[in-house]
Amino acid sequence: MSTKTRLAQQLGVVAGFDDPRVDLEQYRTPPDLAAHLVHTADLQGDIEGKTVVDLGTGTGMLALAAVLRGPSSVVGLDLDPEPLATARENERRVAAAADVEWVRGDATVVPLDPDGPTTVVMNPPFGAQAGNEHADRAFLGTAADIADVSYSIHNGDSAGFVEAFAADEGGTVTHAFAAELDLPHQFEFHDEKTKTVDVEVFRVDWTGG
Ligand SMILES: C[S@@+](CC[C@H](N)C(=O)[O-])C[C@H]1O[C@@H](n2cnc3c(N)ncnc32)[C@H](O)[C@@H]1O
Repeated sequence: MSTKTRLAQQLGVVAGFDDPRVDLEQYRTPPDLAAHLVHTADLQGDIEGKTVVDLGTGTGMLALAAVLRGPSSVVGLDLDPEPLATARENERRVAAAADVEWVRGDATVVPLDPDGPTTVVMNPPFGAQAGNEHADRAFLGTAADIADVSYSIHNGDSAGFVEAFAADEGGTVTHAFAAELDLPHQFEFHDEKTKTVDVEVFRVDWTGG
């Protein structure tokens, strides 16, 4: 297994959104955070040999982090076809040994039936935009349906919600870590180029075991 630092370096070539849509909360997950999430998942045995599904894959950042770590297969799914084109280009840049299957679909309506032990990785919309409220809840619902284990990035004050949601769906939050995320200005404010927000990453075991 390469180091987390090496994985972040490899992800440094992943290009951002060409024309980001605010309504879909399109911003690239920073390479350091993607590497931290996938490295942690790999250490837990949740990547190598597993089917990995990236819900709301956008630029493909999390899917590409996973494909660099020896999964059995990786699917990156997004509602919007434009970032999927960027994700395909990013796949060429990263030059992983295996392919990612890029799928256009709605992550909130259980669009997939993956084979074998499945790990969902996702940086879902926080549901902050009008018309997209509670998107993170719907993404978690899909993870509950298709995954054995999920890793998801949420607002920093989401622990109570994620733990309660998981418990309702027969899941358990087994790990959590705090991180920081630089959001582009159009999402939260107007007078600075970026804003750093606190986020939390949760590992949920959905097997009920
Ligand atoms: C915060 S961005 C994360 C992007 C990605 N992880 C990355 O690093 O580039 C959220 C992503 O979810 C996608 N999205 C929003 N609603 C969706 C839905 N209902 N189904 C699938 N994808 C959706 C957006 O298009 C966007 O790419």
